[in-house]
Amino acid sequence: ELKDNTIIVVLGASGDLAKKKTFPALFGLFRQGFLPRDVRIVGYARTKMDREEFLRRLTSHIKNPENEPETASLIQKFQDISSYISGSYDDGASFDNLNKHLEEIESTYQSKEANRIFYLALPPNVFIPVAKNLREHCYVTKGGVNRIIIEKPFGKDLDSCRELLSALKQYWSEDETFRIDHYLGKEMVKNLLVLRFANVAMGAAWDKNSVSNVQITFKEPFGTEGRGGYFDEFGIIRDVLQNHLLQVLSILTMERPVSFSAEDIRDEKAISITRSSYTKREDTLLGQYVAANGKPGYLDDETVPPNSRCPTFAATTLWINNPRWEGVPFIMKAGKALNEAKVEVRMQFKDVTQGIFKDIARNELVIRIQPSEAVYLKLNAKTPGLYTRAIPTEMDLTYKRRFTESKIPEAYEALILDVLRGDHSNFVRNDELDVAWKIFTPVLHWIDGVAGPPPRPLPYPYGSRGPKELDAFVSKYGFKRAGDA
Ligand code: BG6
Repeated sequence: ELKDNTIIVVLGASGDLAKKKTFPALFGLFRQGFLPRDVRIVGYARTKMDREEFLRRLTSHIKNPENEPETASLIQKFQDISSYISGSYDDGASFDNLNKHLEEIESTYQSKEANRIFYLALPPNVFIPVAKNLREHCYVTKGGVNRIIIEKPFGKDLDSCRELLSALKQYWSEDETFRIDHYLGKEMVKNLLVLRFANVAMGAAWDKNSVSNVQITFKEPFGTEGRGGYFDEFGIIRDVLQNHLLQVLSILTMERPVSFSAEDIRDEKAISITRSSYTKREDTLLGQYVAANGKPGYLDDETVPPNSRCPTFAATTLWINNPRWEGVPFIMKAGKALNEAKVEVRMQFKDVTQGIFKDIARNELVIRIQPSEAVYLKLNAKTPGLYTRAIPTEMDLTYKRRFTESKIPEAYEALILDVLRGDHSNFVRNDELDVAWKIFTPVLHWIDGVAGPPPRPLPYPYGSRGPKELDAFVSKYGFKRAGDA
């Protein structure tokens, strides 16, 4: 663990990711006393700005609605340890200049040891030159560690991902590299390991004998407003399914790791998704939102090319080919501009077919990742009263009711802390990425029109539950809505 003498360099310091996620997360850790002693934050980007302007951006998304003096003074302290350097991304001299600044800071440290963490909050077209320049101009060699953090998109398909990874590997070892999938930093995603492997009762039901089907759902109530340019090149599958939802799937379905060590966990995750089927067009439903209720359609976004067939909604079903899961459909679905914000895992159990009960609701275990973190189990109980009739009800572990005193950390806080601790468990290993792309390649090629005309996504109104074909789609894989029995 890095306890002191650490500089965290945020490259892309003038961009959105840095402003909205990285800096607030760093502040969150700072405020809770989790950053190393003597930590310094250095922003780096092309934009020329003075210190004052940088400090304004640094803290623009840090909230202090009540104007508490304590928070205000912490914000001030956070600004005091931060500085900014502007420079280009592809020119060595700029990085020499950055290095000079880092050395100046390090010359004030008591001990000789100095650690550097480079956070690339950057668009993918500069990943490689920046990684190279950092390695060649800003790498500390005497008594300290260097770590680099990068975040998707890791390519657009298997080939481009492999190219990117092997280019980066020339400069940074796997051990030094932390690939963020911020879903792995979410409390309820981390909870999956504990729920599964710390509970005999859960573990026993976690297989094809008990489970009928599983849905992993991501819903957002807003469209791509303003981000259409980026989004159109990627689509919802690359944006959400191939990374965030697949990561959830891998933890949900993996075998118990030998230990909690990063490599043991990642080995099992990788094995699990390696055994998953490839996406197929016949098991995929694509949608694109259209204007409704005064809200614009996807194609009305000026940054979106006219007539784009880019899916803003996708559902696709996979199977895991191992003795535990064979035959169980895993339905992943994600959409923008839907009726609500919700991310959840819904494991639906089989029907009660034997004995004295018939036609009663199925058990469902729901793990709500956000908002309002919860785990609840739908089960049947006796209706209270002087007769015996089953009634569907819930065992409910809603976090804000049960754990009233706890604050759930932001995903980026948890992940940056892991980087400081050198713990790779919640970061994506290169082999996981490789399989992730392989799984989605068939459907992505179909959507990209690689062989034949690209499919036309089904329209759905902004603010709806998705394409109307969705209900039939999920029931095709055995999902039964309560009341369907
Ligand atoms: C990002 C996607 O990776 O995840 C966005 O690019 C999406 O399109 C976001 O909105 C969702 O993250 P969260 O943490 O808000 O669920």
